[in-house]
Amino acid sequence: MIQGSKADFPFFAEHLQEGRPVVYLDNAATTQKPYPVIDAVRRYLTESVANPHRGAYQLSGEATSRYEAARSRVAAFLNATSSDTVVFTKNATDSLNLVAESYGRRHVGEGDEIIISIAEHHSNLLPWQRLAQENGALLKYVYLDETGMFDMEQFRQALTDRTKIVAVTQVSNVTGIEFPVAEIVRASHDAGAVVVVDAAQSAPHIPIDVQALGADFLAFSGHKLYGPDGAGVLYGATCLLQDMPPISVGGGIVEEVTERTVRYMDPPLRFEAGTPNVEAAVGLHAALDYVDAVGFSRIRRQEQELTGYLVRTLQAIPGVSLYGGTEGVARHGVVSFNVGSVHPHDVATILDSQGVAIRAGHHCAQPLLNFLGIRFCCRASLSFMNTKEDIDALSDAIISVGRWFDGSA
Ligand SMILES: Cc1ncc(COP(=O)(O)O)c(C=O)c1O
Repeated sequence: MIQGSKADFPFFAEHLQEGRPVVYLDNAATTQKPYPVIDAVRRYLTESVANPHRGAYQLSGEATSRYEAARSRVAAFLNATSSDTVVFTKNATDSLNLVAESYGRRHVGEGDEIIISIAEHHSNLLPWQRLAQENGALLKYVYLDETGMFDMEQFRQALTDRTKIVAVTQVSNVTGIEFPVAEIVRASHDAGAVVVVDAAQSAPHIPIDVQALGADFLAFSGHKLYGPDGAGVLYGATCLLQDMPPISVGGGIVEEVTERTVRYMDPPLRFEAGTPNVEAAVGLHAALDYVDAVGFSRIRRQEQELTGYLVRTLQAIPGVSLYGGTEGVARHGVVSFNVGSVHPHDVATILDSQGVAIRAGHHCAQPLLNFLGIRFCCRASLSFMNTKEDIDALSDAIISVGRWFDGSA
């Protein structure tokens, strides 16, 4: 029976620190796994392991069915028109690299332009930086306004008829702020550019409808959405995927090979060379069912309430600075901050000693941190299953940081 709370996650019962469950506030990095996901993976591993798409025997057919059912489930989750638009990858990073290396290399040339935002995670920055450098294209950045929001005006001015690709995150992994992706897509399409959406931080928090967004490509990671590691997704519009060569080549992706030639299968299998990660796909399927059973309206309600409480709690602690704007912007569960001049790694270590897990560092977004005028920061990131008591524990632990440094701890 699904509770939509920590009771669904065995981690909190089994991983105790000094007799207490860990206060886990690093959900943007990865999420804990609920029972239905663990059970689905265990069932697959104990009942029906076989190599899919290969054997003529019944067990292989069953593995194929489970793998392809997961693909259909992802398509439904994204409101995609067909499961052929869903490519399984290792993670969002792998998905974004696939677009850059396959679509990008073919369609971006000398003098063309790629636009990204300054808020991109390195996984949606480095593939474009490398492509631009190697193909002689110009990489343009759109910066943020004073509220931490993607600057639409600046973006419209940056778009030209040489813009071939616009790649943006839907939700920042540093500020949690949601960018106006549907509007970005409309403006990009008017200029003839293709849009790649990094949904790694949005998919766990808001329903995604690729048709309503109009996205050409969209990437996310199952492990940030209560699924297992190794279940990445790339959605791609059929007409674009059809025209893309595979990057990784080998078994399982060909119609015919001769000594000198190859004819590849249609997408999505064309992009999935080698034995696929069936247990990850099966786990992702269960994770999407779990999320639907909890329901996005409840997830959003709980996360919005918790995010507001987190922001207010941190603002009330003397010496704590928050990054990325706090007023008038949609913010999904992620809040970055510093505690006076204490190094974020020291903050995270002191918090850890009190059973509170947060992230500290540059969060794979160094250009954004540079734009914000900092090198490192702490980040607390929520899931719907966190509680106000978790945030109170975070607050108590942060207050104790001052005592460590004035010697009274
Ligand atoms: C916005 C964003 N994009 C991409 C990624 C990369 O995800 P993964 O490491 O699962 O490939 C992350 C991971 O934190 C992220 O936050």
